[in-house]
Formats: sequence, structure tokens, C-alpha cells
Amino acid sequence: MKTVLITGGAGYVGTLLTNQLIQKNYKVIVYDTFWFGDFIKENNNLVKIKGDIRDIKKISEIKYPIDTVIHLACISNDNTFELNESLSEEINFNSFQPLIQHFKKFGVKRFINASSSSVYGYSDSPNVTEDHPLIPLTLYNKFKGLCEPILFENHSNNFVCINVRPATVCGYSPRMRFDLSVNILTHLATKKKEITVFGGKQMRPNLHIKDMCNFYEYLIEADPDLVGGNTYNISDENISIENIAIKIQDIFKNKYNEEVVIKKTPSEDDKRSYYLNSDKVKKELKFKLKYSVENAIDEIYQILKTDQFKDSLENDIYYNIRTLKKLRIS
Ligand SMILES: NC(=O)c1ccc[n+]([C@@H]2O[C@H](COP(=O)([O-])OP(=O)(O)OC[C@H]3O[C@@H](n4cnc5c(N)ncnc54)[C@H](O)[C@@H]3O)[C@@H](O)[C@H]2O)c1
Repeated sequence: MKTVLITGGAGYVGTLLTNQLIQKNYKVIVYDTFWFGDFIKENNNLVKIKGDIRDIKKISEIKYPIDTVIHLACISNDNTFELNESLSEEINFNSFQPLIQHFKKFGVKRFINASSSSVYGYSDSPNVTEDHPLIPLTLYNKFKGLCEPILFENHSNNFVCINVRPATVCGYSPRMRFDLSVNILTHLATKKKEITVFGGKQMRPNLHIKDMCNFYEYLIEADPDLVGGNTYNISDENISIENIAIKIQDIFKNKYNEEVVIKKTPSEDDKRSYYLNSDKVKKELKFKLKYSVENAIDEIYQILKTDQFKDSLENDIYYNIRTLKKLRIS
């Protein structure tokens, strides 16, 4: 049985990934501050450790042999500028080198790093491939980009490093986020029957959360000679924010017989816009995506009809920046 340690394993992606890996017979260690609660199912093959990735002493007290680390922990949101800048820098950048060097010395064989496709910032190119220059527009994507060379400096045959630049993730997780584009708009369409689109022309790549988890699972087992030292973009559809809203409006009308009004507000605030190309994953790795943005819209609509997230508009837990401001994390 392989052991996988997931930093940030209690987050939106981490919770679904942990549950999936446990089901597939991995032993999973979740290392997380649990700022957004704990929605992971208990299991004999699961160990949960409450800790901060800045606390290397605590991490070095973990004595279980670990095969693979999947590094998800970070302050995950482009709006981190609304928080204390040094907090983002400490968590999303300064902690990275000590963390990776600790796991390398500890004998971990593989380290999978969650970067972000938002490192590309803005591009007119019709095809943003992995070799496209990084144009950081926010602190979040600047620090993601700065971690990548540190990752690859540590890559070797005995410590295989892989970098993933995922599109914006969408769909259901027991630890839900309603602050990500498709999730935000579907949530508002369901609850308020009205969506406000800011700007709208920005192109954004999207990825269903189950495909995200399947890709991490694939990377745990993939041939190290094939994937080691590589960066992978991963996305499904590239859609403008305006067209995500129109897609939601159409699905609500045709499938649920519900009218949704779209309001447009001119805005220059969020300039991130790029057309992500994920051919490397699809062609070189033959990795197949199984889910779509439509699947995500449908499952969020269906789950919001149940009681599971009945406090979704008021409760800060579904919105990263709101929660971190409330917790006054330093
Ligand atoms: N969600 C997306 O659309 C998306 C897209 C591209 C990349 N990513 C990356 O994927 C990863 C997971 O994203 P997510 O949406 O699940 O985010 P999330 O905010 O839901 O999860 C992050 C988890 O990390 C934990 N955490 C934060 N700081 C920590 C620290 N200092 N020490 C220990 N734990 C800490 C939080 O408690 C949380 O459980 C992140 O690295 C993110 O940047 C996400």
C-alpha cells in the first residue's frame, strides 16, 4: 500500500482527492491547518494532522514512510491582495524551499506540486502552452511561478518532481468553494436567479474537480521517466466569463425551466485572460478528461436543492478570503 501525504488535503480539491485515494487503497496523511473545516470521511487508512506548512519542526515529527507528497496547501485565491501581503509570501513562497528539502531528505520518492494556470496572467496567444512566458498579475500567481524553479532544482531520479498548472476548478466537493468562476455563477443563478458579470470578455480555462483528482492520481503512478521534471497544463474548455454566464442561463432554461437574468458591469479589475492549451497532457500522456463544465453546473445546481449548503450565501467558510479575514490569520 502506497502512502501519500497531501498538504492542504482538507481543502476543496484535497477533500475529494483524499476520499478518492482512500477508496483506491492508498494510505493518506492529510497535513492541513483546517481553516475551512474538516469534511473528510474517517478511515483506518487516513491520518489527519493539524499543522501549518510553515512549521517544519512539526512536519519533521511525521515519522510514517511517505511515497508521494501532493502539495496543495496555500492561500488559494487571486484576491490574496486583500490580505496581509507577508502572509501570502510566507505561505505561498517562503515555506516552499524548506518543505521540499525536508521531504527530499526524508526519502519521499515523488513530489507533485499544484501551481496554477493563472501564472500566465494575460496573453493574446491562441495557444498558451507550457513554454509560454509567465506574466504574474497578482501576488498569488507571482508566488506560484517563483516556486516552480525551486521545485525543479530539487528534481532527481530519486526525488521525482512534477509541476501541474491547473485551470480554474469547478464542481462539487464536500468542502465547497463558491468563490471560483463557474461555482460562483451557478450558485448565484440557483439562489438569486440573477448573475452579475464583471467585464466578461476575459478567457478562462476550466476543469472539473473529478478530472483534477483523477490527474493527481494518475501522476502518483505514472512512469517517472515520462513525467519527472515536467510541467503540465490541465484544462477542459476555455470559455469567456460572459459565455460561462450564458451557458448557465441556457442550461437553467432548457433543463430546469428556470429563467436567469444576466447583468453586465464594465470592469477592468480582473485582467487575467489566456487560452490554455493542454495538448501535452492529452497527447504525450494520453490522459483523458471525463467531465465537463456542464457536469459541474448540474451537480452544483442539484446539491444546492438539498440542505447540504443551505447557508451558502451567508457562511464565510465557502469563500476563502472572507474566511481568512474573519480568522485574522497571521
Ligand atoms: N481551485 C482552483 O480553481 C485551483 C486552480 C489552480 C490551482 N489550484 C491550486 O490547487 C491547490 C488546492 O486548491 P483548493 O481550491 O483546494 O484550495 P483550498 O483553499 O480549498 O485548499 C487549501 C487548503 O490548504 C490549507 N492551508 C492553507 N495554508 C496552509 C498552511 N500554511 N499550512 C497548512 N495548510 C494550509 C487550507 O486550510 C485548505 O484546506 C492550491 O495550491 C491552489 O492554488 C487551485
